[in-house]
Amino acid sequence: MNFHINNLVAEQQNVLELFNVQKPKPSISIIGLGYVGAVSTACLANLGHEVIGADLDALKVDQIANGISPIHEENLQNLLQEGVGDELIKATTDVTAAVRDTDITFVSVGTPTKSDGGCDASYIISAAQMIGKGLKQKNAYHLVVMRCSIPPGTTLNVMVPEIEKASGLKMGEDFGICFNPEFLREGTAIADFEAPPKTVIGANDERAAIALTEVYQPVDENVIITTIEAAEMVKYVDNIWHATKVCFANEVGRICKPLDIDSHEVMNIFIQDTKLNLSPYYLKPGFAYGGSCLPKEVRAVAHLGEELGVDLPLVNSLAKTNEEQIQSAVDLVKNTGKRKIGFLGLAFKAGTDDLRESPILEVIASLLKDGYDVKTHDPAIGKDTAIKGQFNYVRNVCPHLEQLIDELPDMMTDDCGELVDDCDVVVVTQKNANFQMQVGARLHNKKVIDLVRLFDELPKTQSYEGIGW
Ligand SMILES: NC(=O)c1ccc[n+]([C@@H]2O[C@H](COP(=O)([O-])OP(=O)(O)OC[C@H]3O[C@@H](n4cnc5c(N)ncnc54)[C@H](O)[C@@H]3O)[C@@H](O)[C@H]2O)c1
Repeated sequence: MNFHINNLVAEQQNVLELFNVQKPKPSISIIGLGYVGAVSTACLANLGHEVIGADLDALKVDQIANGISPIHEENLQNLLQEGVGDELIKATTDVTAAVRDTDITFVSVGTPTKSDGGCDASYIISAAQMIGKGLKQKNAYHLVVMRCSIPPGTTLNVMVPEIEKASGLKMGEDFGICFNPEFLREGTAIADFEAPPKTVIGANDERAAIALTEVYQPVDENVIITTIEAAEMVKYVDNIWHATKVCFANEVGRICKPLDIDSHEVMNIFIQDTKLNLSPYYLKPGFAYGGSCLPKEVRAVAHLGEELGVDLPLVNSLAKTNEEQIQSAVDLVKNTGKRKIGFLGLAFKAGTDDLRESPILEVIASLLKDGYDVKTHDPAIGKDTAIKGQFNYVRNVCPHLEQLIDELPDMMTDDCGELVDDCDVVVVTQKNANFQMQVGARLHNKKVIDLVRLFDELPKTQSYEGIGW
């Protein structure tokens, strides 16, 4: 939908410019005038929209209505003053009226943590009820844009039912819904609005997606359009990633200090690698890490921390999460209830015959222990590959794999197609064109466990699955 909608909106814009016509900008109500709401009010007015800010807090409403910033944020006060001066910004405690009197409603109420650690949706529910009442009082189509950070599913399963109940209207027909995560950083919020890191629109119908794409066109001509649930998840994923980076860098600092190494020197070098370190590489859900370096080095750094008396919970947790991934693969196979299992790919990645600490060996060993019938195929590994020598290198960490290493040559076949035909379940551990072809041709009559996302487009068949999809 991405390309199609961005293009559609750009084409419409070009036609309007050709005839020198200005399309009227939709008016926008903003429910919740905290950091997100106050900044959105000022910035959307700055783009030429009439904005009504609505909050239950009379003090915030009064401040916004008078062009006074309720928070400390660079440039916010100036923009609010301009907006109020141009009569583009109004504010009210009457949320229902604000919705009724506008075309689009942005929702930016708080979503604090509940006592059990979950997300408190009570402000969202009360805002949704007020939106529903406002929609009941108008006749035209209305777009509701959810901006809060919320667990996936909240927009469609919590918010929409409340709006529909209070309004008697139907989503997709009488009103549209989008989830549009907010990525502003406090302190540079205005600059981030004007040059966003990305604009994500989760939508389930084209009309809603187009309406919101048009709003953002002046600051982002290439918005990313996706499902509502994926957009909700992106916001959480972004923030756990940022938190991971902070903790990672801090653990590097903690281990560098007793070694008398300048952690900033180390990280300044680290960040210059945009091919492997700061890149999409290693950031796609798939199978466990393995090979001759990653497991060894993770253990070595954890050990170094222990020797130095430095606590490194993030580094120490890596082996555990990796083991969970291996166990998930074992469980997926066992849950099929089938006994003849074929593995496509033995090495930890394609294009190498290095079997050292290949995580799929752990899966195979676990299945053999329970009496499964296993066959394997790897285009880079044959009966004459020196796997015994490789095993000697990892003997200390994988003594439990010795028997498998002895038995492995008897499980190998050179014929990929034959292996797929002969087994009940095929487990794909590497991505290559031949595996794609052989598995793709048999998808409808074979149980496939894909650990690497073999196909760009997810097959829709019931008999296909991976750990993370
Ligand atoms: N602060 C940030 O930097 C930031 C960045 C990205 C996303 N977010 C997310 O955006 C959402 C809003 O965050 P915030 O920091 O602006 O919140 P905030 O707590 O600063 O403000 C929320 C406002 O909503 C108002 N409110 C609550 N219920 C209402 C109702 N029914 N009607 C009208 N007003 C109501 C409150 O009075 C308050 O002024 C949260 O989900 C947050 O996680 C925040």
